[in-house]
Amino acid sequence: MIHYVDETEIKNKKVIVRCDFNVPIQDGKIIDNSRIIKSLETINLLLKNNNALILMSHLGRIKTAEDKEKYSLQVVRNELSRLLNKDVKFLNSPVGMETMKVCKELKNGEVVLLENTRYCDLTERLESNNDLNLAKYWASLADVFVVDAFGSLHRNHASVAGISTYLPTYIGLLVKEEINNLNPVIMNIKRPFTIFMGGAKVDDKLGYIKLLLKKCDKLLLGGGIANSFLYACGYDVKDSLCTTDEMTLDEIRELIKVYKDKIIMPIDFVIEDNKILDLGDRTINKYKKYLDESKTIFINGTCGKFEESRFSHGTIALFSTLKNNSAIKIAGGGDTLNAINEFGLQDAFTFLSSGGGASLEYISNNNLAALDYINKHTDTNRQ
Ligand code: 3PG
Repeated sequence: MIHYVDETEIKNKKVIVRCDFNVPIQDGKIIDNSRIIKSLETINLLLKNNNALILMSHLGRIKTAEDKEKYSLQVVRNELSRLLNKDVKFLNSPVGMETMKVCKELKNGEVVLLENTRYCDLTERLESNNDLNLAKYWASLADVFVVDAFGSLHRNHASVAGISTYLPTYIGLLVKEEINNLNPVIMNIKRPFTIFMGGAKVDDKLGYIKLLLKKCDKLLLGGGIANSFLYACGYDVKDSLCTTDEMTLDEIRELIKVYKDKIIMPIDFVIEDNKILDLGDRTINKYKKYLDESKTIFINGTCGKFEESRFSHGTIALFSTLKNNSAIKIAGGGDTLNAINEFGLQDAFTFLSSGGGASLEYISNNNLAALDYINKHTDTNRQ
């Protein structure tokens, strides 16, 4: 059973906390710190109770030695220190003797951030393969494990799930808030339930699309995903971003056959250099009609290349139509939230999820891989 961090008293303990500090960074600067801000509630609660905190997170994906420098959490440490108004110690490695020593000597009320957990992926993908020796090592640093990394809960990784094999485990307040707010799209869904899905690649999301089509009443498509569906139907998308993988295209054709009344595709576009880069006004008006009739709406992805202002009109227009819509309106996904924040459209939504893949997995599967793992292991540790 899942136990939340505010349902028990964790006091004067050494607590290892898995956060999701996978924030967007440009030229060495954090361009959106909302994931760090959302982690503060759990961190402050644990600090109020005089615990010593060992914070950990991944950042990006580590495949080469060069990635290590690019994805160092040092910049997150600086931001955390600023937000907490407190010195946050930093360890240059997520593992090793020095890490062990500093964590052992950490006093109540102090905070240390370990370097990127995915540094351990470099040679053998120990973190991502949930290597239990690695999980055991991290567990040995603390008395209690707190998981507050909602954005990573669809990953059965050593730092997210594995540690719960060895320590009493509690779920943080950010995860609690996410679960509570996402539940309207998990159970007792108010219908019609409409999903807008955009974004670059269909290959990453096809599995989710299949599951979501079983749940929703309408699926409106945008971005590279729409291009792939159009291409699968024989539409000439020229040089637009789209899949050419024959198996994926066959799967799309099958979905279109089975769910022809649910899948709604764009009818006009903004095109430049032979590429579809945004949705056109007629499409936005058509999508608006479906959204206006809906009682529950989930948005994952954008209409086009919104980062360039001449292709942002579709995304702004579509999201803005939600302002006067009384449905439950939830958005999730890194790009989606970037667009919402950039265009100041936060008020158009009931809830903004901090997890992209995680919110998609939770909504489509009614479950999250790491939560499932923790559920199975944590009660054993509590006895
Ligand atoms: C996210 O940004 O969606 C999460 O931090 C997970 O990152 P990942 O897709 O690299 O596992």
